[in-house]
Amino acid sequence: MKQNVYDDPYFFEGYMDLRSSEGGFNAAIEEPAVYSLLPPLEGLHILDLGCGFGKFASFCLKKGAAHVLGVDISQKMISEAKNRIKDPRASFLVTPTEDFEVDEGSFNLVVSSMCFHYVKDISPVFEKVALALIEDGHFIFSVEHPICTSLLKGWCSSDKVPKKHWPVDDYKKETIRVSNWFVNGVIKYHRTIETYTNELIDTGFSIRRLLEPGPTITAVAEKPELSEHLRRPPILVLAGTKKAQPQDYV
Ligand SMILES: C[S@@+](CC[C@H](N)C(=O)[O-])C[C@H]1O[C@@H](n2cnc3c(N)ncnc32)[C@H](O)[C@@H]1O
Repeated sequence: MKQNVYDDPYFFEGYMDLRSSEGGFNAAIEEPAVYSLLPPLEGLHILDLGCGFGKFASFCLKKGAAHVLGVDISQKMISEAKNRIKDPRASFLVTPTEDFEVDEGSFNLVVSSMCFHYVKDISPVFEKVALALIEDGHFIFSVEHPICTSLLKGWCSSDKVPKKHWPVDDYKKETIRVSNWFVNGVIKYHRTIETYTNELIDTGFSIRRLLEPGPTITAVAEKPELSEHLRRPPILVLAGTKKAQPQDYV
């Protein structure tokens, strides 16, 4: 059974509170990194996997996208997105990314922000994305950085090691990780950078960029607490392009 923790009322309230601060983690670090890799959006058909309350969809519409389809497992998130966005060029679907059915070659761009670490098997999802994209179509996604998901202990300090540090362990053990974030028992799936990258390549994508963004000097000056994200990478972002299928030789 797939986890749908964003529909937990307590989790939802906590998460929406967190995201309401525009200078926060997502706005200062994740969004600029993902947005820096986007092609011009005008006239594009865009798929957003794990779209949440539709922030990216709203951005795409402002930039002239022809259509954005947001897919999310959470009913609450999709309701929020539908309440915020009343534009005929946007549609939203409550469906797990793993079960979503795509039409071949129907999108120019697929984006997924901070969702895939909740998905158990990434390879079928990448295959689906490849099917959904036109040739040379763009795929950009961000996940919680594998350095962060390896142990999920968070920042630590002790009498022996008083300096606050982020321990990494069991890096190569690509299994479930359970954490407490707003509620107990939030499940994530740890994968290495190697796995994310090679799964993309094996699915037929050319890697265009890999980013490990942190806050800018300006962002840290405005919000000094963001400086901890310069000490270890909080996010991994990968951008790929769907390669042409090899031609059969006669
Ligand atoms: C951290 S939020 C990010 C939301 C949005 N992408 C953004 O950046 O504002 C992760 C989202 O992924 C969704 N999600 C988690 N597991 C999912 C799955 N298996 N299929 C589809 N959506 C999922 C959650 O419901 C949540 O809306």
